[in-house]
Order: sequence, then C-alpha cells, then structure tokens
Amino acid sequence: MEESRKVLYSAVQPTNNLTIGNYIGAIRNWVDLQNGYDCYFAIANMHAITVRQNPAELRQKTLALLALYIACGVDPEKCVLYLQSHVPAHAELAWVLNTFTYVGEMERMTQYKDKSSRHADNINMGLMDYPVLMAADILLYQADVVPVGLDQRQHLEIARDIAQRFNKALSPTFKVPEGLYVKVGAKINDLQEPSKKMSKSAENPNGSVFMSDDKDTVIRKFRRAVTDSDSDIRYAPEEKPGVSNLLSIYSVFSGKSVAEAEKEFAGAGYGEFKLAVGEAVAEKLEPLQKEQNRLLGDKAYLDGVLRSGMERAARAAGRTLNKVYKKIGFYQL
Ligand code: TRP
Repeated sequence: MEESRKVLYSAVQPTNNLTIGNYIGAIRNWVDLQNGYDCYFAIANMHAITVRQNPAELRQKTLALLALYIACGVDPEKCVLYLQSHVPAHAELAWVLNTFTYVGEMERMTQYKDKSSRHADNINMGLMDYPVLMAADILLYQADVVPVGLDQRQHLEIARDIAQRFNKALSPTFKVPEGLYVKVGAKINDLQEPSKKMSKSAENPNGSVFMSDDKDTVIRKFRRAVTDSDSDIRYAPEEKPGVSNLLSIYSVFSGKSVAEAEKEFAGAGYGEFKLAVGEAVAEKLEPLQKEQNRLLGDKAYLDGVLRSGMERAARAAGRTLNKVYKKIGFYQL
C-alpha cells in the first residue's frame, strides 16, 4: 500500500439478502474505491448479532457475502478484506468509547428507535451500543473517508463526535473521518412500488430482485413489474416511475445510456421491454453467481483471504488501540 493514499473504511452486515440495488449502490462502489484508497472492508458480524440470528445461517451468510464481494471484483490483494470478529480490538475500543458516549444520545438515534420498535421483544444493550461499535470500527483504522448510505449518516456523525470528544479530553488520537455519500448514477427502486427504494425487506418480495435470484425468478419479477397506463417507453421519473426505473436498471446492467435504451425500445410493447430488462439483469447475475459458488467450494481460499485480512487489520487496529490504552491510563507491561 502507498503511504500517500487516504484510508477508507467500510463494512456490511452479513445478514442481508443483497438486492441489485445494493450491487449498484455499494458493491460496485467498493470495486471502484479500492483503486484510489487504502481500503479496509469488513464483514460486520458483530453488528449483525444485535438482532437475533440463527448461528448456522450467520456462519454460512458470512462466507456467502465474502464470496459474493470477491466475485463482484473486490480484490483481496488490493484491499484488506476481513471479518470484524476476527479482530478483538473492535470490541476493546468500543468499550473505551462507551465511556465517551452518552446514553441520551444513543437513545435518540433514529435506527435504534426504529429497530427497537421492530424488535420490541429484544431491545438489548448491543442494539443501543451499535453506533459505538461502528465508531470503534472506523476510528481504529484512522480512516479519512467512510462511504455509507444516507441511512448511516447519523451513525457516522456520532463517530465523528466521539472522536472529537476523546481527542479533546485527552489529546489528538483519532482521525476525524469524513462521510462519503456516493451519488450513484442510478437509484434502483422497487418493481412493485416504483416510487420507493428497492429494499431487502420489502413487503412484496416481487418488488426486489436479489443477487441470488435465478434466471427464471429474475424474468418473472420483471414481467410483473409495475408500469403505467400509457405505452411509451421514456424516462420521466415523476410521471412514469415504473418505466423510468426499468430504464435505469436496463442502462446499468446493459452498459448503455438511458437515451440509447429509449431509442432501442421506441415502439416496443411493455411486455417485450420488461423481458429485455429481465434478461439483461439475469445475464449479468449468472456469471457472478457462478463465480460466487465456485469460491464457496474453495473454502481453503476463502479462509486464506480472511486470515490474511485479519492479520493486516489487526496490525493497524492494534497500533491505535495501544495509543488509546496509554492515553486513558491503562498500566502497560
Ligand atoms: N452499520 C452499517 C450498515 O448496516 C455497517 C457498518 C458497520 C459500517 N460498521 C461500519 C459501515 C463502519 C461503515 C463503517 O450499513
């Protein structure tokens, strides 16, 4: 890694079934970013257990996510790709940072309020402490930039606050990270409710296309996609949200511009158009899924990636944790 490059940190939880929206918004982004920054990418399994998980499934999904990212082009030679629980410094720093975080500010976090109403039977301390663990993730690596979705903005702001508070109370220790709210060319919306963002947990499963969907499923979902009453295939997000969403998706997956796509489908019927979009998506997913499965069959390789990621991450994290322990007054041998 080059000394002069900025450090970038990001993480994903291994619990979500990723949609093609995540692919466009997050995975592809990592692939681009790894060339411009010193990247640390984590699989955040410690965050995942703040809502109850099936242990066997959590283990399986961890490897599946790792394999998917590598299949999509995240290169473990170019970035540090690792599993959060493999680096104990995350939990250790989180404990220290807890003492620089106020209960009141955690109670006011939007995602905490939202998740505690959705998981009212399990409002555990981890759920409330989630942003502190996330702050520890980021601050351990002295990250300059953190690409996140807008839903994580509040968490990033808190990480900055905590860093500044610690720096002020003791002495400059943490880099105060900047959020990178990446504008992706296309925002992918729900196929059934095209004015809403495509999400992994939509009420109608036909509205979301998952990275793991097979060809028939993909085609079926696009065939059922909501369009509108006139029959023009043109990009007009306000007036024709369904058709415009399909055009965006087609554009991303075929590599053609929206204008080119409009031209291509001028005069075509919705049926033909939707089939073409489905096919473009399925065609792109198939090789990724195949590569993901091949990697999943090579556990020795995946373990090797995680081991080397762990070692590199632990080295960087250890340096920061050591400083923190000194400054806070922990007697060291
Ligand atoms: N909370 C993030 C999410 O659900 C995942 C995450 C954990 C993360 N630690 C992080 C993202 C550190 C950026 C930086 O999307």
